[in-house]
Amino acid sequence: MGYLTDLSSSWMVIAASFLVLNFLVDNGRVEAMYLGLPGLAPVSFCQEKLAILKNDTDEACKSTIDVYVNRLDSVENAISYEYDRYDFCQVEGRLSPSENLGQVVFGERIRPSPYTFTFNKTENCQKVCTKTYKVDKKDGDKEDKAKLNLLKKAVSFNYQHHWIIDNMPVTWCYEVQTFDANGRSEYCSPGFPVGCFVDADGNRKDACVIDQRYGGKNSYYIFNHVNIELEYHPILKDGEEEANSVARLVRARIVPFSIKQTMKGDEIVSCSPSNEGEGSGLSIPGGSQDIGDVKEISITYSYNLSFTKNFSVSWASRWDYLLDQMTDVSINWFR
Ligand SMILES: *[C@@H]1O[C@H](CO)[C@@H](O)[C@H](O)[C@H]1NC(C)=O
Ligand SMILES: *[C@@H]1O[C@H](CO)[C@@H](O)[C@H](O)[C@H]1NC(C)=O
Ligand SMILES: *[C@@H]1O[C@H](CO)[C@@H](O)[C@H](O)[C@H]1NC(C)=O
Ligand SMILES: *[C@@H]1O[C@H](CO)[C@@H](O)[C@H](O)[C@H]1NC(C)=O
Repeated sequence: MGYLTDLSSSWMVIAASFLVLNFLVDNGRVEAMYLGLPGLAPVSFCQEKLAILKNDTDEACKSTIDVYVNRLDSVENAISYEYDRYDFCQVEGRLSPSENLGQVVFGERIRPSPYTFTFNKTENCQKVCTKTYKVDKKDGDKEDKAKLNLLKKAVSFNYQHHWIIDNMPVTWCYEVQTFDANGRSEYCSPGFPVGCFVDADGNRKDACVIDQRYGGKNSYYIFNHVNIELEYHPILKDGEEEANSVARLVRARIVPFSIKQTMKGDEIVSCSPSNEGEGSGLSIPGGSQDIGDVKEISITYSYNLSFTKNFSVSWASRWDYLLDQMTDVSINWFR
């Protein structure tokens, strides 16, 4: 049961179901309910300078935005795995979040991640870490090969990352061909895949259909770069300039990419999707016999981060777009 006791976790599950029911039944009461529940008061964010003035406390405003990670899961396999089972970038020295309702809604294994942002600070091609694997047929490293195989397995079973920012799921929204009851053709998933693969006959599986670049035969593409867009709602007091105000985070979106960044030593020079077309994502060759002459495989994890102002979404209704589609689509992400 991780760091939760049985008692508190079952209480929270009950409370969470209650919360969801209420969301669906009566949106108007959501804010009042939130304020009465532990850990679910809104957090105010502000620019770094202002946060320092106010001692970066939760009570005043904070500029640090931490990303937490839940277990990875798959609709094709019943078992979910902890983030650190895989050789992704690991966190140093940050503690697990105190458990609260919003976090428990997504499961019980929420852990800190190495992704930490500063409110309203754009980042481009920010590197998180590089992992290098010696895969040489003769003198390759056994452990390295095992780590890569684990990653490939996660890809072939379509395992999904579940990231959490400010108690909200980070969602991956993409176009779908069907329209829902509200005429939308966008679907937002509260997670994104580890990667996707193309079989030996060139059939693209799962997310590989979204981009020409993920088309090389017998390849496992790793989604090693993400574009994250955070939407915030400024809380403006009379006559106050936005830059001096606090804001609430109302939406966190992510778009995953498989990219071979251009590196200069350890630094990323460019992280644009390649224009070399088919097969130009970052891939691990399938099947051990196909590693061929490859001696070393490097995966650099990186992100772009942007902030967008949005006055039309309020903090209390920030989950609505997800809950709306739950009533339309029978995808059950609330397991
Ligand atoms: C910030 O911390 C300093 C030193 O601990 C204290 O003197 C000051 O009053 C604090 N400011 C606020 C806004 O809490
Ligand atoms: C965020 O940054 C933009 C552009 O730099 C600025 O105009 C805006 O006032 C900032 N908003 C907040 C809440 O800090
Ligand atoms: C990330 O940002 C940089 C700088 O704006 C841009 O050149 C690059 O194409 C972006 N990467 C992606 C995947 O959007
Ligand atoms: C703000 O959110 C609304 C509702 O999701 C959306 O329609 C609109 O495009 C967003 N505006 C911006 C500037 O992102």
